[in-house]
Amino acid sequence: MKRVLTVIVGVGVLVLGGMIIYAWEPAIPKVPLPEASRFSQAQISRGKMLAGIGNCSTCHTNEASRPNAGGLSIPTPFGTLYTPNIAPDPQTGIGHWSEAAFIRAMREGVDREGEHLFPAFPYTHFTKVKDEDLTALYAYLITHKPVEYEPPANTLRFPYNIRMLQAGWKVLFFDDSPWKDVDGKSDAWNRGAYLAEGLGHCAACHSPRNQFGAEQTDASYAGAMVDQWYAPALDKQHEAPVDWTMDESFDYLRTGGSALHGVAVGSMADVVHAGLAWASGQDIEALATYLGEIGGAGSTSEAMQKAKTLISKAHRETDADMTHGGRIFAAACVACHYNDSRRPNTIRPDLALNSTVTLKSPDNLIRVVLDGVSVKGGLPGVMMPGFGHALNDNDIADLLAFLRRTHNNEPPWPNLAQRVAQLRNETNVNSDDATE
Ligand code: HEC
Ligand code: HEC
Ligand code: HEC
Repeated sequence: MKRVLTVIVGVGVLVLGGMIIYAWEPAIPKVPLPEASRFSQAQISRGKMLAGIGNCSTCHTNEASRPNAGGLSIPTPFGTLYTPNIAPDPQTGIGHWSEAAFIRAMREGVDREGEHLFPAFPYTHFTKVKDEDLTALYAYLITHKPVEYEPPANTLRFPYNIRMLQAGWKVLFFDDSPWKDVDGKSDAWNRGAYLAEGLGHCAACHSPRNQFGAEQTDASYAGAMVDQWYAPALDKQHEAPVDWTMDESFDYLRTGGSALHGVAVGSMADVVHAGLAWASGQDIEALATYLGEIGGAGSTSEAMQKAKTLISKAHRETDADMTHGGRIFAAACVACHYNDSRRPNTIRPDLALNSTVTLKSPDNLIRVVLDGVSVKGGLPGVMMPGFGHALNDNDIADLLAFLRRTHNNEPPWPNLAQRVAQLRNETNVNSDDATE
């Protein structure tokens, strides 16, 4: 018995030792802050564009006066993470990180000191970024304004706070194979795929995750909740009432709005306006090309036809509906959301064409009705007022049930009033903010 026990304990110690050795990564020595002259202006500008596509500053900026200095809280099922300072301050940021240390963080999710990073940092996508692009990103970040700021410490629960365990997570879920162009696909397709799967990390929000927080690779782009917004499916089972076309995908990603779909709100507004805005027209076209492959690209004439049919049907059914929800719609929404079926308009999103009404989850529609869309939160120059104060939970539930009934053919959402109440509490954006 004793011998068996000794063997078990011995094997246990060996396994643990092996794990520690496996998980161990060396620290990469500090270097003095590199001189800006080491990099060309072209590299720095390219890095700025790439940082936009990667949305680095959206996650790494908590206050506009402290760009890239971190401190943004990222709630996860395992506790709260705060983004680190990636401005080039030597003490609190990455000012003494060598290029090699930066590249290892982006490729392998390991920090300069050799600690494993959590996948809330989308290194699982950034690992696909090519060498010259990582060098350009480094050039941009390291020559940017240094900001001295120490973000709050993470509050992850035991055992999730043990960084070493991330080595095991990586064995199970991390594919670190480098990006390879796909033979037989066009240059635009390959460029789009490279940007979407790599820096753009589109799937990080649009794919569901398993209980370990890893993207489900067999359900890529099948739609998922992230930060209490629903990032819709972009695959062939997409949830948009009208099939996406190349042109509409381009408009949506370039301007943040498409006449046949709607506007980017919530976290997607940041992706477009604080990120893709720096990308070239060609890169946006490339992304639209790749999206066409994931979700299928319909023809413009068919999409227009479908849009007309949907708008006309919604007009007919709205006129015939005298319910409480229908009356709220007439009083509160129609003035801004009425479209001529021949010419839907981007700045008055037609709710018969809008995926917020057809999505599996009512959350995006509820949040927009509660809080509106601020000038910063959607298309520049226009806004929508919030109705969180004017309408109570039952009013909003009736309004949404009405929209779901008259503006498309999806089954009713269950327990709407309850969900409105929940989101009202959890997403505490005051509707007054919409005017800012
Ligand atoms: C979705 C949010 C998000 C985005 C987008 C993001 N990061 Fe991060 N990043 C994080 C989080 C969270 C961490 C810390 C993870 C941890 O504590 O293990 C991190 C860590 C890092 C680190 C390690 C810093 C350190 O001190 O350990 C670097 C470097 C970094 N990010 C660079 C970037 C760059 C460059 C981009 C854009 C290409 C980027 N990040 C985009 C969330 C993000
Ligand atoms: C930080 C999370 C996040 C990232 C990263 C992200 N998205 Fe989104 N996306 C969302 C959310 C949330 C919505 C819903 C927005 C709305 O209702 O207006 C959305 C909506 C969309 C839509 C409209 C879908 C529909 O049916 O209405 C498209 C298209 C889209 N995203 C493409 C992309 C592409 C391409 C990328 C990568 C370049 C990307 N997204 C990256 C969160 C994200
Ligand atoms: C004063 C004009 C106005 C009123 C009233 C108004 N909206 Fe809006 N709404 C807008 C504008 C403008 C946008 C586009 C916002 C942006 O991009 O900044 C918008 C956006 C939306 C969106 C987002 C669509 C998307 O693509 O994600 C939804 C949903 C919506 N409105 C629903 C409603 C509902 C329901 C009501 C009534 C309770 C309503 N709106 C009342 C002007 C209005």
